Amino acid sequence: MKELYIFANWKMYLNHDESVALARDLKKKIPGLKLAAELAVFPSALSFVAVQKELQGVAEVGPQNVYWVDKGGYTGEVSAMTYKLLNVHYALVGHSERRHVFHESNAEVRQKLEAVLNADMTPVLCIGETLRERKDGEVEEVIEAQLRAAFMDLTWPKDKKLIIVYEPVWAISTGESCDLDEAERIAALTHKYAKGLLGKSVEPVVLYGGSVRPDNVAAYISQPHLSGVLVGGASTKVSTWLDILKETI
Ligand code: PGA
Repeated sequence: MKELYIFANWKMYLNHDESVALARDLKKKIPGLKLAAELAVFPSALSFVAVQKELQGVAEVGPQNVYWVDKGGYTGEVSAMTYKLLNVHYALVGHSERRHVFHESNAEVRQKLEAVLNADMTPVLCIGETLRERKDGEVEEVIEAQLRAAFMDLTWPKDKKLIIVYEPVWAISTGESCDLDEAERIAALTHKYAKGLLGKSVEPVVLYGGSVRPDNVAAYISQPHLSGVLVGGASTKVSTWLDILKETI
């Protein structure tokens, strides 16, 4: 059986009290589910420490974004190194909202990826095409370019998992999830490209993200090249998140 990764991106949906309340609810309910999957929650930077404290032993807690310089005059940023000191395992890198809303470039994604690795954390690299790129027939090109830029001059550490999330931008928070065969096709391509760029010994783990819900999660994780999901909106309510988790058992 393949190892499953079920990750929750809370984005900026919850305020501090709501984040802590959700974490408390999860702490009460998740252990009883006897899940086999690896769980991680990505809360806001503000609620990070409180959520991590609540979810100790229940789920990993990671940042939605990091900065690559360890310390200094970078107002508003939190460095990868700061998270490392909190014993953090996973960090999101290159989420499409970072790329498209905050204009994070492929080169910046590359810097963040390296910073996460240097901080001894496992990056969860997000890639995916926009609707325009899909309509213009550029999906493969975009995926390849994002991976090529992210891994440029990088030797993947032997002891680090490579986790890549295929998140078509047009499927994020739109309710319009990607066709299963297409998600599997791009996951297989991502797998192939990543191995081609980093070497055959690297075994990429590919997840899907984009309007994942309780009624479609099982179909995604049953695809041969998909090992889990990154869930946004549906992970921010205890009922839908627990329903998603139950579908993975
Ligand atoms: P969504 O978000 O599940 O709300 O579509 C997924 C993501 O952006 O990671």
